[in-house]
Order: sequence, then C-alpha cells, then structure tokens
Amino acid sequence: MSVDTSVAVGAMNLRGPVLAASGTFGYGTEVPLLERRALGAIVSKGIFLRPREGTPPPRIAETPSGMLNAIGLQGPGADGLVRDYAPLWAEWDFPVLVNINGESASEYGELTARLDGVPGIAGFEINISCPNVEQGGMFFGNDPRAAAAVTEAVRKRTKLPVWVKLTPMVSDIGVIARAVESAGADALCAINTFVGMSIDLNAYRPRLSFRTGGLSGPAIRPLAVHLAHQAARAVHIPVIGIGGIARVEDALEFLVAGCSAVQVGNAASKAATSLRKQLLQRAGEVLEADAADLLIEDGIITVRGTPGKRLPATDVVPEEGLEVLEKFDPKRGAAYSSGCHAAVVAVDPDTGQVEVLRYVIAHDTGKAINELIVEGQMHGGYAHGLGYALYEAATYDPDGTYRTASFLDYTIVSTGEVVTEPLLVHIETPTDANPEGFKGAGESGTIPAPAAISNAVEDALRKRKPDAVVDRLPITSDRIVEILGQ
Ligand SMILES: Cc1cc2nc3c(=O)[nH]c(=O)nc-3n(C[C@H](O)[C@H](O)[C@H](O)COP(=O)(O)O)c2cc1C
Repeated sequence: MSVDTSVAVGAMNLRGPVLAASGTFGYGTEVPLLERRALGAIVSKGIFLRPREGTPPPRIAETPSGMLNAIGLQGPGADGLVRDYAPLWAEWDFPVLVNINGESASEYGELTARLDGVPGIAGFEINISCPNVEQGGMFFGNDPRAAAAVTEAVRKRTKLPVWVKLTPMVSDIGVIARAVESAGADALCAINTFVGMSIDLNAYRPRLSFRTGGLSGPAIRPLAVHLAHQAARAVHIPVIGIGGIARVEDALEFLVAGCSAVQVGNAASKAATSLRKQLLQRAGEVLEADAADLLIEDGIITVRGTPGKRLPATDVVPEEGLEVLEKFDPKRGAAYSSGCHAAVVAVDPDTGQVEVLRYVIAHDTGKAINELIVEGQMHGGYAHGLGYALYEAATYDPDGTYRTASFLDYTIVSTGEVVTEPLLVHIETPTDANPEGFKGAGESGTIPAPAAISNAVEDALRKRKPDAVVDRLPITSDRIVEILGQ
C-alpha cells in the first residue's frame, strides 16, 4: 500500500513533510541523488550577496545530546550559487529553497533580486538570526520592526514563496511571528539554533574559536516544540517545525503542536546514509556484485571496474519505497586518525648537519571534508615534527635555570629548514564514531615525524659507526658529531 505523504506549505506543494534544514545538507549536491529523494525539499546552506570565508576552526563542538556550530555562514555568494548550484537544482524533481542572509534589509532585498527567476531556485527562507550591522549589531529576528523590514524587502523583490526562519532568542516569538506575517511571509520556520557556549576546562577557553555557537540537536527539541507551538498559535500562515528531530515521534510532536511540516538536520544525513546502504545491498543482489564494489552516480548504479554492469537506482526501489529510521546521538567520543611516515636523510659526518632528502606521509584521516586543508595540516605537521626531531628543546642547566626561554635560544624551524616537500598518500577509512566518518587530521601529520626522522638519522650514523644510538631528541648537529666521535 502506498501512502500519500504530500503536504502543502502555503502555495508550495511538497511530496513529503520532511525537509532538510539549512546548513545541514550543504547545497544538496554532497548527498547522492537517491537519498535526496527521501526529502520533500531542501533548504540550502545560508548565503550572503557576496562570498564569505566563515569563521576559523574549531567551528563545531559536541555537547550533551547536541552540538554547537559557528560556521560563520561561509558561502560562495549569489554569483557562485547561480553558477555552480542552481543549474543542478533545476534538474531535480523537488524544490530547493535558498536560505538568505544580509547585514541590512536592503542587502536581503538585493540578494533576492539577484536570485529571483533563476531556474532551480524555488523559494527563499530568510534567516533573520543575522546581526543588523546598520542598527548596532542586534539580530534582525529580535526586533519585530527589523524582522518585518527584512521580510518586506524580500517580498517586494519576488513572487516565489518566502519563508521566515525565526530565532528562538526572543522573549515573545508570537510578536515577531505576527510582524513578519503582516510583512508578507508565506510561512514561518521555527526555530533556528540557540546561542550557546562550551568551555574547554583544560585550555581555559571556549571550545569554538568564535566563542559562541548555535546549539542544535535533541537537546533543543522541547524548547523548539514550545516555540513552534507559540508561533503557530500567533499566525494564520503555515509553520515548519525545526529543532532536534531525530525520529518519527519527534516530528509528530511538532505536527501536533500546529506545524505543517518539519526540517531535520543531523538525523537526516544519517538516515540518508542508511538508505544508501539499503539500496546498494539490493543492487548488489540484482547485479550479482558485492555492495562494497558498487558506485552511485547521477542515479545510476555501476560495478567498480565493470562499467557494463549498471542499472538505474530507481529499479531497485520497491513499489512501497524504502524507509529508514535513524537517530543522531553523538555519544561516542573522538575518533583518531592514523599515519605512517618514512624519511630518507643525508648526514654530514663532519658538521653533523642533517638534510631530509625524501619524506613520505601515508595517513588516514577518515572522510576528508576539504582535501586542501588536510594537505595543509600534513605539511604543517611535518614541519612541527621536523622541529621536534632536529632542533627544538626546552633545556635547563644543572641548577635548574631555563636556558631556552626566548626564540633566540629555542631553535624553532623556519622555511630554511623545511626544504623538502613531503609526498602525501591519502587513505580514507571512515570511522564509525560519527555519521560522516570524519576522524581529524592533526595527529598523523605531527606525531610520527620525530620517530621517522631520528630513526633515519640513526640508520645513517650506523653506516659509519655500527653501534650508534640516537637516544634522545632533538638529535642536533652537536649531538651527531658527539656520537660519531665517541
Ligand atoms: C552545521 C550547521 C550549519 C547551519 N547553517 C545554517 C544556515 O546557514 N542558515 C540557517 O538558517 N540555519 C542554519 N543552521 C540551523 C539549522 O538549519 C537548524 O535550524 C538547526 O540545526 C536545528 O535543527 P536540528 O536540531 O535538527 O539540527 C545550521 C545548523 C548546523 C548544525
């Protein structure tokens, strides 16, 4: 039996009531097409008129039953979005709304005008949790007049659906809800993240570089249900519930509280991954191949190395559809990366100078989000490790006086020492500690380097002196001359 799950949000008809929340599905392109099909719509990652780099890392911190994020609305700007994403969206059979942001009401309006009518863009979700730069930095969403001004600026520039995403950091959400309804919003999304802070007690500072971040996940669900309910009671337009939805029952709470549909973040990404697994399992049976050897691209499943063996992914979806239920609960702690380093060095026996001739880093960071950043971390890690191996030491004299208290005495590496570019071998074995398989990249760049370099130096010294032992770090040129002279 097939069930009709379609819903109408204002004038927009959606094939299902579950939508991907802004920022949790990127621009939708990161998730294979079939998994996107489980969704009624996607709201894109938030963008500004111009490209933005976002905040420096760390940008994410796990908290009990939730997480804090301070991505800083990194994005390609309107031109990048129109060029790189909208043409892909235009091919999809469900709507993509763009989450829009600005520093002034006129900037929201300008951004809407730039995007209005672009094929692939089905509507707008206004993120009013942005600081109003012209009015002292207060969130637009905290002030009914500012929230209405932004809504009006957007409404004037488009006939497409306009949804307004409310901030929870207000004393009466009903007042804001009514203000944006009067200014022309077609629907409300309740709610955005709560502002939170988490402190690293060892480092004595906040875990996020931005200090504060948006709290999402199951931790905020009861608060979100309450605020969505208050918003729904205040207006006549539809309200879309958001906040900590991980299970069908969670979504139902929002629907019972008066919402027409829901948006989900982390749980959706995990469910999509399970769905992909189910599909590949089924396709493996049809294609007589191991599911691990299958690839999905543009809705077509192929067998790795046998391109002739292929079938549209839709062929393995049963008539009643595929259904998965997933929950995101970041209970397990960190996942660690691993690495293996190899060094070829030349040692000058007269001066004790070490030259690294060749350096290879094979590392496994789990799924890499940004390979360039991972490569940068490996290069930086290598430079650190080289310093630990050959130069850097905290030394004390016999009376306990610290002798390397300044950079005049503490020999830190510079570009002069880091001359050999390491060769990188990337291996990706995703961890099961989080849905996306991320591990982290720092350790595998730094930790093995002192061992690899000092072992290579010891090996070189043994060509001259078979019993040479490198027994401490750093293995300085003085120490090398001393070992060879013993
Ligand atoms: C990593 C991340 C990025 C987000 N980026 C945006 C954004 O660009 N614009 C926006 O309005 N909301 C953004 N949000 C908020 C979500 O859309 C959603 O309101 C919030 O995560 C609560 O839902 P959840 O508990 O189901 O994840 C982001 C959330 C996360 C976790």
